[in-house]
Amino acid sequence: MIIDNEDSVTGVVLQAMAGGNNARLRDIAAAFVRHMHAFAREVRLTEAEFEAGIAMLNRIGQATNEVHNEGVLFSDAIGLSTLVCLMNNGANGNTETAAALLGPFWRMHSPVTPNGGSIVRSPTPGPALFADFEIVDTKGQPIAGVEVDVWHSSPVGLYENQDQSQAEMNLRGKFTTDAHGHFGFRSVKPAGYPVPTDGPTGDLLREQKRHPYRPAHVHFLCYKPGFKTLVTQVFVDQDKYLDSDVVFGVTRALIGDFKHHESGTPPAPDISAPWYTLAYRFVMEEGEATLPHPPIR
Ligand code: BEZ
Ligand code: FE
Repeated sequence: MIIDNEDSVTGVVLQAMAGGNNARLRDIAAAFVRHMHAFAREVRLTEAEFEAGIAMLNRIGQATNEVHNEGVLFSDAIGLSTLVCLMNNGANGNTETAAALLGPFWRMHSPVTPNGGSIVRSPTPGPALFADFEIVDTKGQPIAGVEVDVWHSSPVGLYENQDQSQAEMNLRGKFTTDAHGHFGFRSVKPAGYPVPTDGPTGDLLREQKRHPYRPAHVHFLCYKPGFKTLVTQVFVDQDKYLDSDVVFGVTRALIGDFKHHESGTPPAPDISAPWYTLAYRFVMEEGEATLPHPPIR
């Protein structure tokens, strides 16, 4: 266990870390060390670069508080969150609908809303959106009684909790699928928005000359005991940031067909053109229904 030189460090560390009763932790820690050491070797990390990296890690921790998780944001911006999400859900689209990041804006207890009801809870200028969804199991059979949380940003790209002008719980709702597996609502078309750039993740984006935007999307959390909880997003197909989402949340199957309507009979008497309609089908697979921790209250 004595280190001779640079070449023997990794082996000595791995040997020192081989104890403990938790086999999974042992595997993860060993792989982490192997990859970190290989990374340092590959780039021939200098001492100044090592210090800069540690300072960045520290700043990520310092920028994290009750309502903001810079660690998650950093993982999002390097695609690690999406990789972990896709590895653990949906078997590459072969079973359930592709999952997507929960993000920092899910709130529990969004208002229970009847099917077809509006989630616009205070005046919110923007084109109307009429959305209709079906949830089926892996055999294509409709699933009744799925509780679905829906949340999205406003047509100027702000969630209600970021915007004084929006009512509490505006553009959020909780629906339950009917006997045919359907739920739907009326809203306004969301806009994309930038992620926070006042921390170390923002510094990284600026350094890499990347924009901080997410394409417009609607979030869904579908929950029913007996089925694996589906957390996903459906993206607005015309969005200019679709192929450059700063957090890499877009997968092809999640691009929605937001149909633009200029003429014809509007779906409600108070609607004037243009308006949008969206129809989308989710697939849930059998499994354990769990709920994530809400990032905000
Ligand atoms: C969101 O879609 O709400 C989101 C996801 C990751 C980072 C920031 C926002
Ligand atoms: Fe979002």
